[in-house]
Amino acid sequence: MSHAASATDRQNEDDLYAIAEATLPGASLGGYSLPKDLRFIIREGRGGRLVSVEGREYVDYVCGAGATIIGHGHPAVIEAVKERASKGLHFFGTLNDAAVELADVLVTAIPCAERIIFTTTGSEATAYAMRIARAVTGKPKILKFEGAYHGNHDYASFSQFPVRPANYPSATSDIGGVPEALQDTMLIAPYNDLETVESILSEHAGDTAAIIVEPVQRIIFPKLGFLDGLRELADKYGVLLIFDEVVTGFRLSYGGAQDYYGVTPDLASYGKIVGGGGPLGCVGGRADLLDATNPNRKGRADYAYVNGTLHGNPIAAVAGLATLRVLQEPDFYQNFHTRADRFRAAFVDVLARQGLPALVAGQASFWQLLFTDAPPVNQMDVLASDQSRSSALDLSLLRNGVYVLPNVRRFFSAAHTEEDLEVTLSALETACKAQV
Ligand SMILES: Cc1ncc(COP(=O)(O)O)c(C=O)c1O
Repeated sequence: MSHAASATDRQNEDDLYAIAEATLPGASLGGYSLPKDLRFIIREGRGGRLVSVEGREYVDYVCGAGATIIGHGHPAVIEAVKERASKGLHFFGTLNDAAVELADVLVTAIPCAERIIFTTTGSEATAYAMRIARAVTGKPKILKFEGAYHGNHDYASFSQFPVRPANYPSATSDIGGVPEALQDTMLIAPYNDLETVESILSEHAGDTAAIIVEPVQRIIFPKLGFLDGLRELADKYGVLLIFDEVVTGFRLSYGGAQDYYGVTPDLASYGKIVGGGGPLGCVGGRADLLDATNPNRKGRADYAYVNGTLHGNPIAAVAGLATLRVLQEPDFYQNFHTRADRFRAAFVDVLARQGLPALVAGQASFWQLLFTDAPPVNQMDVLASDQSRSSALDLSLLRNGVYVLPNVRRFFSAAHTEEDLEVTLSALETACKAQV
């Protein structure tokens, strides 16, 4: 990989880690901190691979937390960003043409979206979707699922990383700094359990604005009828349905989970792929709901304030537009998913040959190795799997040049090649041998 020398290239990883240890808590960008003997600093990404500052190469299944569905440095995306950057990096207050063009593409692509509002991140998108639901309905509570991740804000931080079942529907936060006063605004139900959702709604619908759900919760796929069931219950009890499509949007299919499962929510939050790896998210939904954010409503009780310096950033917008154009190529998803099936099947073969009692969870472009008998149906199933064993296996993959985060759901990108598969299979074989 050739590249122009930069200040970073001239430093070695030890120097950079010395700076990082002194400046960044846990020498981390937040959320994850790899063991010292396995951590690395990324210099660049190309296709399905990453290269560290020291020149080590990794097959990358973290894929920018799912943002880089067509791989790193796709020429169409890079070209669009370069061209746009020459016209200015950011503006504010009035519209820019790239954001308007992306809004048009998004309302066409997203089944529930008659209107779009832009955000900078997926977290903001879920927070705004909840605010819109509360502003429009005038009701305070939101029902979320145990173990669902909706981002970093306080409302999302209930039953986010649970270690034991909740006392449904009571919400408790599993992180510090979240005001107890918010506890009463969130309701918790186990994923894939319509009966519990109905029993909660039958009691709380009068003050519940919405249900928010990850259509695929981490590595847990919805049981047949679960999402349709949520739609029916939402309608029956007069609450809104929010799909958090920050991960599933443009990943399961061009129309996201809504298209893949044929269920249309009232509101949906997006991030990651919509910005093509740049800082951009959005909320899409019914016009009567999204119009609550119309700034001409300022001063009204049903006005849901939405604003952010970087909202609709033109660089992220053109990266998103270029990415979405690639995703619209004929048979993109069919080819992508067929290849993902083949990769997963090859992983299964290695596990079986090595006699490891693990399964390859996942469908479409999602995957994760779990030591358990059957694909998980809810968060407690995931916790019941042997997490220390899967973590050891994941770390072993990392040691052998495959970038995964321990016990975190991972992705295939459209840029992964047969060579990447070979490297992964050989790493998996070595990792399995280290386990037995
Ligand atoms: C389902 C889901 N919702 C929301 C978020 C938050 O998005 P962001 O990290 O862009 O704030 C994430 C991030 O991984 C996510 O997976």
